[in-house]
Amino acid sequence: PAKPIQIKMVLLGESAVGKSSLVLRFVNDEFQDNKEPTIGAAFLTQKVRLDDSVLKLDIWDTAGQERFHSLAPMYYRNAQAAVVVYDITRAASLDKAKSWVKELQRQANTNLVIALVGNKLDLAGPAAGAAAESAEGDGEAAEAAEATEGRGRQVQAETARAYAEEQGLLFLETSAKTGEGVVETFTEVAKKLDLA
Ligand code: GTP
Ligand code: MG
Repeated sequence: PAKPIQIKMVLLGESAVGKSSLVLRFVNDEFQDNKEPTIGAAFLTQKVRLDDSVLKLDIWDTAGQERFHSLAPMYYRNAQAAVVVYDITRAASLDKAKSWVKELQRQANTNLVIALVGNKLDLAGPAAGAAAESAEGDGEAAEAAEATEGRGRQVQAETARAYAEEQGLLFLETSAKTGEGVVETFTEVAKKLDLA
């Protein structure tokens, strides 16, 4: 069997969007409800099998807290892939993701593969909007539905997807909690690299 191709990958995004949780789900198939913030960065590896090759991902999971921002170039320098994460329940985290994308486009490898990932899909709620609609006319139920919506999705997938397409980024939504979209994220990135 051929030696795996080694790929340097970096995860970036605001603190608490779930970068470490995504990596933990991908590498160990685990989830922790109260994951502590990353200090500096964490390093993990995982293999991805494609049709006729194996990639070994060297994953740098960076710390999103602002005081660590200046360390980021060490991790995205020479990276072939970047996963920029936001939290679909916090619109401000998409703005931060966009600023990371800008920084990568200015400073990183020109053929860097970038994926924009909206995490915490499990909190979108099975259509908080639909609940609000069906509760129309029923004051109390409508109020409850609205409160749920407040904790639910703030960033529509189509909004983020349109931005990602315009910038030439892969786009996926994930839940590190349920595992939805997680393997797909790393596999999609690997596929795009494989062709490069
Ligand atoms: P920094 O290391 O500070 O940059 O944060 P991070 O982006 O690594 O976030 P982390 O993975 O530590 O997750 C922050 C919190 O969100 C933790 O309490 C996680 O349990 C929670 N979390 C992460 N992903 C998900 C998810 O998909 N769904 C839900 N419901 N919670 C999540
Ligand atoms: Mg972390």
